[in-house]
Amino acid sequence: MNNNSIEITPLSPAIGAEIRGVDLREPLSNRQFDEIHNAFAEHQVLFFRGQEELAPEAQVRFGRMFGDLHTHPAAPTHPDHPEIFVIHAHKDSKIANGNFWHTDVSCDEEPPLGTALQLHLLPSNGGDTLFASMYAAYEALSDLMKRILSSLTAMHESEHLYRGRYSDRGVDDASMEYPSAEHPVIRTHPVTGKQAIYVNSCFTTRIVGLEREESDALLEFLFQHCQRPEFQIRWRWQKNDMVFWDNRCVQHFAVWDYWPEERRGHRVTIQGEKPFHKA
Ligand code: SIN
Repeated sequence: MNNNSIEITPLSPAIGAEIRGVDLREPLSNRQFDEIHNAFAEHQVLFFRGQEELAPEAQVRFGRMFGDLHTHPAAPTHPDHPEIFVIHAHKDSKIANGNFWHTDVSCDEEPPLGTALQLHLLPSNGGDTLFASMYAAYEALSDLMKRILSSLTAMHESEHLYRGRYSDRGVDDASMEYPSAEHPVIRTHPVTGKQAIYVNSCFTTRIVGLEREESDALLEFLFQHCQRPEFQIRWRWQKNDMVFWDNRCVQHFAVWDYWPEERRGHRVTIQGEKPFHKA
């Protein structure tokens, strides 16, 4: 059992902290869980450096401390551990997961709370992941724009993204129906009470109640705005780093710049609740 106090080093004004002094192969003490839980609320994405490779059971145990685990609606799971989503890109891959700005599976009625990814195999160069704070993106808007956006909802869809996407991993989705959901454009975080922009260029297809041209223009503005560098941190992975991000207030982008090299790891995803907006 881990029992020492963890070290938390903030990495940028908007987002991200590095975590040391905890061995994730061992169960966390209550005190460590509280410290990690508080750091997660404050920094939005935690980078656990200096880890050893986790057995699937240890990574699942970590995820379950934060809630029930989420099952991906489209991707195949690990053959022996259905809670694990294998992240793997190599020379024959047609896609690499997360190679665009998004928050995980926002097309679900109850999208994931958070995601914990450990990478076991890295390319010799590249394969970074960028994270952007949607609190910071919200705060940078004018008061009038905040008020307008707070009254809106948007559709998040997945058919265009998931249909046929995993056929090279043996998924036959001919009879599958992929999820879609309507969510507030500004989401209130259930733990911190802070407001975050909750649209992303991967899943969000339209603002409800606007004409198509109006919706496209507003979404295009928001997608560009959310990508401003001062809201971001870029993580250069080392082998066995584990990164834990909060999908309720963070977008991320996994850069696929290393083809034909290989990158592989395990992800567990924690079930979230229906997004809401509270003034
Ligand atoms: C993802 O979006 O889950 C993939 C993130 C990554 O591979 O860095």
